[in-house]
Amino acid sequence: MTRARITGVGAYAPKRILTNADLEKMVETNDAWIVQRTGIRERRIADENEATSDLAVRAAQQALERANLLPEDVEFIAVGTTSPDMIFPTTGNIVQHRLGCRRAGSVDMLAACAGSIYSLSIGAQFIQTGKYKRVLCIGAETLSKITDFTDRGTCVLLADAAGAAVLEPSEDERGIIDFDLYSDGQYWELLYMPGGGSRHPATRETVDARMHFAKMKGNEVFKVAVRLFVDCAERILARNGFTADDVNLFIPHQANLRIIEAAAKRVNLPMDRVFVNVDRYGNTGAASVYVALEEAVTGGRLKRGDLVLIVAFGGGFAWGAALMRW
Ligand code: UT7
Repeated sequence: MTRARITGVGAYAPKRILTNADLEKMVETNDAWIVQRTGIRERRIADENEATSDLAVRAAQQALERANLLPEDVEFIAVGTTSPDMIFPTTGNIVQHRLGCRRAGSVDMLAACAGSIYSLSIGAQFIQTGKYKRVLCIGAETLSKITDFTDRGTCVLLADAAGAAVLEPSEDERGIIDFDLYSDGQYWELLYMPGGGSRHPATRETVDARMHFAKMKGNEVFKVAVRLFVDCAERILARNGFTADDVNLFIPHQANLRIIEAAAKRVNLPMDRVFVNVDRYGNTGAASVYVALEEAVTGGRLKRGDLVLIVAFGGGFAWGAALMRW
């Protein structure tokens, strides 16, 4: 089967920086706690008039330019997001129109932070089957719009950004070797947004009860996250005949530095082969892995032939891994 290869990456984060010192003025927290428990020092927050598609379009334009493609070359757009512009139309539709991708079908993948790995994997399928030759995968979030800035358990973590990757058929061994997608709905109440859907349609009462904000039992998420991270990383490596020693760069979902360090240790990967930018961006949901990949590429952390392991995890729970030859 033809491998899907990433031929261009892009990223965009809003200009506005929210530091831990800023958060100290908003909720009862402090810089030392946030840094020690999460590794986050600052994050980017969208303006009032900036929506998820605005970030997605900028990241996608950069990825297309770097892949030397025109918008009309794109045949399919897969957007991972849990903070879409609206429930419908999809953010994919809005991005398709604004980019001018006249031939492209589009879809949104709502898989919380795992929207990154879901959008990348589903985009890759179209290349692998030979159906399409140019697919645009995007992870984009304005999580600040669904964050309760009176809840210190979430507002210190969640943030805004977008990243994109262009997939094309590979002519050699480079490209996505394998991926795995998983879900387990038994954990849904550990991380969710209760209001605004068909279970609790928006009413004055749901808004007064702050049900249109993300709710999280962080500590419980943490424990399951580390176990699932490790399980799926080990499984995809073993199935493809690799060990941690073969991995040149591990790009984990940037949820929390402690989760990343705990998972890397158990998988036996030293931190110098683990990409981390959670300190500067916080947890940007479906965008995080794409933004990290873009920084790894532009920062010279990847060379041709490197083995790259990506693992993402989020509410639902939904999680997964991708293994690729760069
Ligand atoms: O994207 C994927 C999904 N999300 C995640 O992966 C997030 C996973 N979870 C986490 O990152 C961590 O659980 C948190 C950063 C959310 C919390 O860290 P923790 O080490 O699990 O802290 P905790 O919830 O056990 O709370 C410890 C203490 C508590 O005080 P007491 O009860 O010990 O007095 C909390 O009330 O820290 C307190 N606390 C805070 N203190 C200062 C909780 N949040 C804060 C805060 N600032 N922002």
